[in-house]
Amino acid sequence: MILVFGKTGQVGGALAGADDVVALDRGAADLSDPSACARAIDRLAPRAVINAAAYTYVDGAEADAERAHLINARAPGAMATACAERAIPFVHISTDYVFDGGGARPWAPGDRPDPVNLYGQSKLAGERAVQAAGGTSVILRTSWVFSGRGRNFATTMLRLGRQQSSLRVVADQHGGPTPAGAIAATCLTIADHLCRAPGDGGIHHFSGAPDVTWADFAREIFTAAGMDTKVQDIMTDAFPTPARRPANSRLNCDTLSAFGLSRPDWRAALGAMFTTAGAPQ
Ligand SMILES: NC(=O)c1ccc[n+]([C@@H]2O[C@H](COP(=O)([O-])OP(=O)(O)OC[C@H]3O[C@@H](n4cnc5c(N)ncnc54)[C@H](OP(=O)(O)O)[C@@H]3O)[C@@H](O)[C@H]2O)c1
Repeated sequence: MILVFGKTGQVGGALAGADDVVALDRGAADLSDPSACARAIDRLAPRAVINAAAYTYVDGAEADAERAHLINARAPGAMATACAERAIPFVHISTDYVFDGGGARPWAPGDRPDPVNLYGQSKLAGERAVQAAGGTSVILRTSWVFSGRGRNFATTMLRLGRQQSSLRVVADQHGGPTPAGAIAATCLTIADHLCRAPGDGGIHHFSGAPDVTWADFAREIFTAAGMDTKVQDIMTDAFPTPARRPANSRLNCDTLSAFGLSRPDWRAALGAMFTTAGAPQ
């Protein structure tokens, strides 16, 4: 059995439906008590652990750094230590926001992280805590996660697009939108791989292709939804937020070939959101 933290999230929710997965929600394991996460691993004795839980409120982290650090760094550190002590492979999800967003080249796993906001700092501290635990682990950095459930850019655009005929959307940040379901499938593939080849840990990148701007992504969302909402390009400066965002979130995902994986085309998953049962309302 594979143990998943973060059952109610976009990625955790997609993992929860998979075969051979036991997913825990906040009631079963609260990450603000890192030792409770270690105890859950001890009690359930899984063959692998995937951490899809995180403090993901990027702007909120600016005023709540301590809580972000507890959930994004100390809890994954405790999970990784519990896994290392029991020789259980650990897959931990991280973010493009560990990079400062300079340049236009896609970031490679070995590039130097330098986060520009507190959420990114807390996620980088989580990566380091997982590595310091010393067991078998993969840190999977992803970007711009979307799904038909929960709060994400796609569901926000759909909500706003029903209220307004035209939206102003940032057009100078670039990245790869990534379907939550594809991240879930990738985590499972990597967890299975690590069970067979525990020496293959490390940092990897996984994002959807092609890279676009938020404004381009919004246009694709409205097209896929059959809505005629117009998108007007704006620069980041015109949409101030508490947390700074990196301008270049492109991820070089070449090392995924080690697991027989490559970047998925996010447009297919976006289209499927509107043609399958349970399309976002
Ligand atoms: N969203 C993005 O655009 C994005 C981009 C890059 C990387 N990532 C990373 O991808 C991973 C998955 O993100 P996501 O978008 O699927 O996240 P999400 O939808 O925001 O879900 C977060 C999950 O973490 C859980 N959680 C938060 N605090 C908790 C606590 N104290 N105890 C237990 N559970 C707690 C939430 O539970 P509740 O429902 O109870 O709050 C929820 O299940 C995260 O590591 C995130 O940092 C996300």
